[in-house]
Amino acid sequence: MSKIQELQSKIAAAMLGGGQVRIDSQHKKGKLTARERLQLLLDEGSFEELGMFVHNRNKGLTTEQEQFPGDGVVTGFGTINGRLVYVFSQDFTVYGGSLSEPHARKICRIMDLAMENGAPLIGLNDSGGARIQEGVVSLAGYADIFYRNTRASGVIPQISAIMGPCAGGAVYSPAITDFILMVENTSYMFVTGPNVVKTVTHEEVTSEDLGGARTHATKSGVTHFSCSNEVACIQNIRQLLGYMPQNCEDAAPVYPYESGNENRPALNNMIPENPNQPYDMKEVIAELTDADSFLEVHKDFAENIIVGFARIAGRSIGIVANQPAVLAGVLDIHASVKGARFTRFCDAFNIPLLVLVDVPGFLPGTDQEWNGIITNGAKLLFALSEATVPKITVTTRKAYGGAYCVMNSKHIGADLNFAFPQAEIAVMGPKGAVEIIYKKEIDASGSPETRMNELVADYTERFANPYLAAEKGYIDEVVTPEETRTRLIRGYKMLENKVVNMPRKKHGNIPL
Ligand code: HXC
Repeated sequence: MSKIQELQSKIAAAMLGGGQVRIDSQHKKGKLTARERLQLLLDEGSFEELGMFVHNRNKGLTTEQEQFPGDGVVTGFGTINGRLVYVFSQDFTVYGGSLSEPHARKICRIMDLAMENGAPLIGLNDSGGARIQEGVVSLAGYADIFYRNTRASGVIPQISAIMGPCAGGAVYSPAITDFILMVENTSYMFVTGPNVVKTVTHEEVTSEDLGGARTHATKSGVTHFSCSNEVACIQNIRQLLGYMPQNCEDAAPVYPYESGNENRPALNNMIPENPNQPYDMKEVIAELTDADSFLEVHKDFAENIIVGFARIAGRSIGIVANQPAVLAGVLDIHASVKGARFTRFCDAFNIPLLVLVDVPGFLPGTDQEWNGIITNGAKLLFALSEATVPKITVTTRKAYGGAYCVMNSKHIGADLNFAFPQAEIAVMGPKGAVEIIYKKEIDASGSPETRMNELVADYTERFANPYLAAEKGYIDEVVTPEETRTRLIRGYKMLENKVVNMPRKKHGNIPL
């Protein structure tokens, strides 16, 4: 056999990972192989593999280990829509994608290259965890990856797709990365699995209920995207990357955009006259942003706040918006954390922010207080205050109390604050205010209900509007809703070269 033929036969063997039987078994589970996933993820023909022939130590802790080229992970680089990315894709057909020391070393090498060359890192996870035969060295391998994930945070975008098991300490690498995507029915994440849960807490729960995609998309918020299948998951990654720069020194790609009539008359009728009537803030977002450009993040978690990427005149923005259609758009613990984390991603990667406000306040109750709405609400306040990217606020309706301050008010560094004429910017809603300041007068009147209604009407007339805030300069302009998109396009253009010098410090101390 010639040297070249020898190489070709080695490559052919590597392509089979753990062998055809295991590939068939992977397919039977409705899963793709590590290489098939990369083929879908990267631009056609762009993948350059590194480390194809790395293999494990033959002598394991307890047994001889069979050797497979690549050792359970395919690593390298390629392009997505022509932009460089670094990738690793765990191969479940080799020891269940479990992590050995050489497997970890391959991932670390890719991470180092991604950092040195300033390009995103994408990890496709499908692994039984630490390679049991290797013992403690595989733990060291995990820690090496966690350390690199942490150092890369805020420098390059990091995206994790969970396409099979991800259990034990292994969950902490995806958890440190910027975005997690999970595939419904074939992936799960948990620190301890159903058996341990049963032993310790006597709870009976399936893997899917404990840590499946729907669970983490709706209950824990661990995953940002729950995808119906692997192909949808991979498409989602490609789409997501389109809003991001390559690294923290870079700007997000600008998409072609033909300017036209930017007036959006539908906005004039979108806010109901009755302030207690809900409406869908996503309809407002659709009018303000470029057609079909909105990509919602964390769609099924803490739905009282909306976060996601969109484009305005071809440029990426990050949106944080109260959702009056869910719990009246109130801020609670989960909503605050969701908004804060997204804000920090956008700020780290130079993506301007748009904050849409219709918020009655923070959610009252023992559950919220005892679980730390103070600390958690402060996260959103901190994140929006520290963000130095261009920040524009549009108050569509209510902005009450502390929530007014938190939701990107002028006072915490918003660059432009617009309000719709329907906006109500005040310490609290008219009814609550009247009940406190006119309590004695209402109690003493012959007809408390009538007197109360009169006072509420008077308070509403005098205080529930945007003009008092505009008089003080807290609102830059009260705008006719249909003009808002034009204002935003011009506003972001005006803020394009914004520079803010922060006080010298090692790093802030966000209330975690
Ligand atoms: C070595 C492993 C492995 C592992 C699976 N395999 N997990 N080999 N180390 N951790 C191998 C199996 O022996 C099998 O080999 C092949 O992978 C496929 O596994 P199956 O069990 O047949 O697949 P499936 O039924 O789909 O079950 C998948 C699984 C299960 C749920 C992941 O294999 C499992 O429970 N594995 C052990 C998980 C675990 O306890 N990991 C260690 C956790 S501790 P063959 O040759 O038959 O194909 C940990 C600590 C991390 O991860 C700490 C970080 C700080």
